Amino acid sequence: MEEKTVKLDDIVSLAKRRGFIYRGSDVYGGLSGTWDYGPLGVTLKRNIMQLWWKMFVEARDDMYGVDAAILMNQKVWQASGHVDTFVDPLCEDTVNHRRYRTDHILKDKGIDPAGMTMEQMDAAIVEHGLKSPDGNPLSASRTFNMMFQTHVGATMDEKSVSYLRPETAQGIFTNFKNVVDNFYPDLPFGLAQQGKAFRNEISPRDFVFRSREFEQMEIEYFVHPDKWQESFEALLRDIHEFLDALGLPKDKVHELEVPEEDRAHYSKRTIDIEFDFPIGREELLGLAYRTDFDLGNIQRVSGKSMEYTVKGTNEKFVPHVIEPSFGVERALMAVLSTAYREDEVNGEKRIYMAFPEHLAPVKYAVSPLLKNKPELVEKAHEVYTMLKKKHGNVMWDDNGNIGKRYRRQDEIGTPYCVVIDFDTLEDGTVTVRDRDTTEQRRVSIEELAAN
Ligand code: GAP
Repeated sequence: MEEKTVKLDDIVSLAKRRGFIYRGSDVYGGLSGTWDYGPLGVTLKRNIMQLWWKMFVEARDDMYGVDAAILMNQKVWQASGHVDTFVDPLCEDTVNHRRYRTDHILKDKGIDPAGMTMEQMDAAIVEHGLKSPDGNPLSASRTFNMMFQTHVGATMDEKSVSYLRPETAQGIFTNFKNVVDNFYPDLPFGLAQQGKAFRNEISPRDFVFRSREFEQMEIEYFVHPDKWQESFEALLRDIHEFLDALGLPKDKVHELEVPEEDRAHYSKRTIDIEFDFPIGREELLGLAYRTDFDLGNIQRVSGKSMEYTVKGTNEKFVPHVIEPSFGVERALMAVLSTAYREDEVNGEKRIYMAFPEHLAPVKYAVSPLLKNKPELVEKAHEVYTMLKKKHGNVMWDDNGNIGKRYRRQDEIGTPYCVVIDFDTLEDGTVTVRDRDTTEQRRVSIEELAAN
């Protein structure tokens, strides 16, 4: 069968149908830009996050984990530049007052907004006679700050203003000194954090790709100012290794050297890693050289020294920072779209998710061939309990006939279905059916237990 081009709708519909991802607040008509994870989605997401933690934190000597509060002192966001500069260009349909990101209006019409100022984007809209998606004229653009503002405590005044963090990074920077004082690591070393981030995106879209609430996995890697390049290159290699471990095909992963005019306000060099998603080639994650921008700002605003003293010397400086920043949802979307397959089995269309075994939310599904034969059910329960104790992510499935069970397990990406039949009672072997090839093998229970 010819390889199918995966469409976003295929992924969205499977994700809902099989309990991976639901629309946030669905029962009340949804809340734009929010998504909820079902039983399989949460496991898949955690498997991705745990793999990242294992590779970037546990397997290394130069990384330390932190988990900072989401709500932070407002000074954090003033010092970081987010209050002033964390903005997107917004224009408005002059008739129905719907609002859009100006760069998205251009992009959707095939005009590349990279490197354009807001005024240049407005000029391009006029030049090309672009209208809103409803066909109405668009206003000139203005900037829109994407941070969600809130108040901490019972008093609502200027002093109580806080923000839901738009990046996890600042929770790392504000703990730099704590970790240095407690652990005194040699440079270079990194602090890593995973957690929620919030952005009031003007137009959340493309499933979980651009959400208002999402998760990041970030590292701030502290280096000697003269040695940032070697750490930048090393982390770039580590990123590719992680993407390999996610099972993403190399030819769908691309590096984009971001030009100065498109870089975030804090970055001297950025490489975006882009991926060929079903929505096109888009940013999967970023690697940025943040210089001493953040620690320098903290030092200036807090009045506390962020200098690092090289052990056994008098050499002191504010370290520079390399930041690999991953979006969990985008990694998940890349994994989902890579895994999605359609083929034909016995003349019928089949959909299956070819997840790498270490990411699959369910590793084994265990079934008795017939659910009305107590001796088969009892033996199947024995095998199920044995596998569950060992692997955890094992599912009991006795619903419908075997063919239906296989199809259901294929759709959730279970690599192996184990079936207990009458031969099992005789010779202690079970059928193990492989998701990708659909081949079935007889395997002894001992062999299965040893896997
Ligand atoms: N600390 C740096 C930082 O936050 P960013 O490029 O703004 O940099 C990093 O975000 C990553 O977070 C992106 O590459 C993407 O994977 C993810 N991300 C950003 N905005 C997102 C959104 N609205 N929805 C889902 N993921 C998002």
